[in-house]
Amino acid sequence: MKNKNILVTGGAGAIGANLVNILSASNKNIIVIDDLSSGTPENILKNKNVVLYKDSILNDLLLKRIFLKSRNKIDIVFHLAALFANQNSVEHPEKDLLTNALGTLKLLDLSTKSRVERFVYISSSCVYGSAGVDLKEDLSFSLETPYAISKFCGEQYAHFYHHLYGLRAVILRYFNAFGPGDPPGRYRNVIPNFMLTALQGKPLKITGTGDETRDFTYIDDIIRGTILAAEVKNATGHIFNIGSGREIKIRHVAELINCLSGNKAGIKFIPRRKWDKITRRVANIEKSRKILGYRPQISFDDGLKKTYRWFKERYCKK
Ligand SMILES: NC(=O)c1ccc[n+]([C@@H]2O[C@H](COP(=O)([O-])OP(=O)(O)OC[C@H]3O[C@@H](n4cnc5c(N)ncnc54)[C@H](O)[C@@H]3O)[C@@H](O)[C@H]2O)c1
Repeated sequence: MKNKNILVTGGAGAIGANLVNILSASNKNIIVIDDLSSGTPENILKNKNVVLYKDSILNDLLLKRIFLKSRNKIDIVFHLAALFANQNSVEHPEKDLLTNALGTLKLLDLSTKSRVERFVYISSSCVYGSAGVDLKEDLSFSLETPYAISKFCGEQYAHFYHHLYGLRAVILRYFNAFGPGDPPGRYRNVIPNFMLTALQGKPLKITGTGDETRDFTYIDDIIRGTILAAEVKNATGHIFNIGSGREIKIRHVAELINCLSGNKAGIKFIPRRKWDKITRRVANIEKSRKILGYRPQISFDDGLKKTYRWFKERYCKK
């Protein structure tokens, strides 16, 4: 993708910032809308062609200015802004609905009106609910959290704008992303939180038995899949899984992090959270391989080592 004007919502976030940095190298202007509720801007502002609006995707005036009044017409939208993720949505369901569903609707509507070339909507594997393995795009499922409901709602709106108005929308279902840029925190992902705990010399808390699995996907593979979704001609109107296709046990993740960090405090098992009914999760990536030409390239252990190196540098206080 070259010489495009691109809007990245949530572009200061863990995944968005990695995407912005790659896109800014070969495109004209990258506009980022991010209210910085969980993102940090420092990683993207070093790029000269990146403009950051520290604001919400719910701000109609700002959206109209960017889509309809700007000198540089937006060619491509990557919509990543979201209230993240399950536990946060269980505690703040209304905020989750507004950002993830209404915010998506507003962006789809203006993208249709301003005739963008491509709209890439970032959804999540959580829309598969507690369905576990061999996750194919046409499976039916039940949803366990407000986040899963609102991300699925965003998908349905994207379908609507695609079918009724011909918006060239593509939906990506990311599976557990990890890599440099992913911070620890109350509502954040298991890998950075394990790393922080290990560096503090405390036992890693696994909610469950440790035999639960997830499809951990390294950030570089996630970004490659995301850019392909905007580039590949016949991707429009489709849903794609962006995962690694590998099933990794949480116990393995904890053991490897304890080994990398030299943490001797071990693992502590605690009960699973009430809403968490997912014992296994792995993506079927055949459709993404076939249509997008998507090929995950980084093994879990290599990705984890790279992530740990970044994490230690960033968070290890000497
Ligand atoms: N990280 C994962 O494992 C994963 C898995 C599946 C799907 N996803 C999806 O990928 C996308 C990016 O996730 P991430 O891991 O980078 O999370 P993140 O929290 O780091 O990024 C989301 C960004 O959106 C911003 N934001 C939140 N509400 C906003 C609003 N109202 N207006 C403008 N900006 C707002 C936040 O400040 C943040 O920078 C999200 O849509 C998420 O649902 C992530």
